[in-house]
Amino acid sequence: MRKVQLTETVLRDANQSLMATRLPYADYEGILPDMDKAGYYSIECWGGATFDSCLRYLNEDPWERLRNLRKNLPDTRLQMLLRGQNLLGYKHYHDDVVEKFIELSIKNGIDVIRIFDALNDFRNIETALNATKKYAKEKTIASGCISYTQSPVHTVDKYIEMCRELKNMGFDTICLKDMAGTMSPYEAEHLIKGIKDAIGDMTLILHTHCTTGMAYMTITKAIESGIDVIDTATSCFSGGTSQPSTETMFYALQQYGIDCGLDEEIINKVNDYFKPIKQKYVDNGQLNPKSLATDAQALVYKVPGGMLSNMIANLTDMHAMDKFDAALAEIPKVRADLGYPPLVTPLSQMVGNQAVTNVLVGERYKNISKEVKNYIKGEYGIAPAPIDPELSKKVLGDDMPVDCRVEDMKRTGEDFKSAKEALGDLCRCEEDVMSYICYPDQTVKFLENRKAQEENEAVYTIEEM
Ligand code: CO
Repeated sequence: MRKVQLTETVLRDANQSLMATRLPYADYEGILPDMDKAGYYSIECWGGATFDSCLRYLNEDPWERLRNLRKNLPDTRLQMLLRGQNLLGYKHYHDDVVEKFIELSIKNGIDVIRIFDALNDFRNIETALNATKKYAKEKTIASGCISYTQSPVHTVDKYIEMCRELKNMGFDTICLKDMAGTMSPYEAEHLIKGIKDAIGDMTLILHTHCTTGMAYMTITKAIESGIDVIDTATSCFSGGTSQPSTETMFYALQQYGIDCGLDEEIINKVNDYFKPIKQKYVDNGQLNPKSLATDAQALVYKVPGGMLSNMIANLTDMHAMDKFDAALAEIPKVRADLGYPPLVTPLSQMVGNQAVTNVLVGERYKNISKEVKNYIKGEYGIAPAPIDPELSKKVLGDDMPVDCRVEDMKRTGEDFKSAKEALGDLCRCEEDVMSYICYPDQTVKFLENRKAQEENEAVYTIEEM
């Protein structure tokens, strides 16, 4: 019997896509023992924006959250999303920092590390891969992830070539990450058949979002074309900007005669558990029902939904909504000039803002943002296609582009030393140091809180005695 397995995303991507990652650990602790017996391929529960959100908004130690997840999900693969050399942030960290982060992630309980680079510049995921291999435990899986996008240079052949490269690099599985939810059923069929032919029996995973309404059709075609794993969210946290629904796919797969290994009763129990939680956040406004709707604009304009709403907000602020159509038409041109980067954070914002600037100033690239300049200099990695030579010359002059990898190669230990010094007696463990390197301000605030709390508790204990 053929098998297609499901990764449950409610704790990470669904949480991130629908309610800005504000789900505290305490809300879902009670259902973890059941989820552990559901039979998921994995539970995506860490990484992405969860780390930042724990420290910034939830007064939670992300490492402690991970250890608690591990304790309550002993038999399920715990999965995280990692932005390659950027870890969970937006800047390139040194190799020794990347390595330590992976070591600690595995040590605290992560099994599956899904690693991607926004530009698909695989030099930026190599250190993370090697570290995963170095610290791997029995169940550890290094998953190489491709940021899916559509452009004249992103052909099926190009994606097949990328998959071959990921396989040769030594990844255990490959994931196609369609963050904008724009992959059509037709594209899925051609891509997945082509990729499966090229990589043999290596596990292939499809990650998509329901944003544009394509996802169920695309997943169905993906299943017919040989996909091994799909990402879904428990039904009350599915749809809209989130993933397709776990239970729905369970019933559909059953009729296909495909085994997904899930326990029907448990996945329904999981959904029942999350229903009142969802309602709580709808009621307090944290979960905007708008994010649960279908928005096909991304298909019309070929830009992700979030990028469009950003642009509308910016233009409205500047009382320039009359320039909306011109700015929209400028986006694909800017993207082509920049060598067709996938429109994913932070590139979507960079391309969108530059398009608006070009239109408002009335002369293309008269003003170029610092970020776009750095991108053209090569600081983000290699663009998928050559950057427009005129634009490139305008920014670089006679300079050569920089190699984003040169800086990262340094293994000085400096980052750890200065982080430790900065934290002083707030620091208890390597995990604290790592949190500080990733999010210094939020970590200091969190650790000061922790210290104050402990001192309070100590006072209570003495009084009680
Ligand atoms: Co996603």
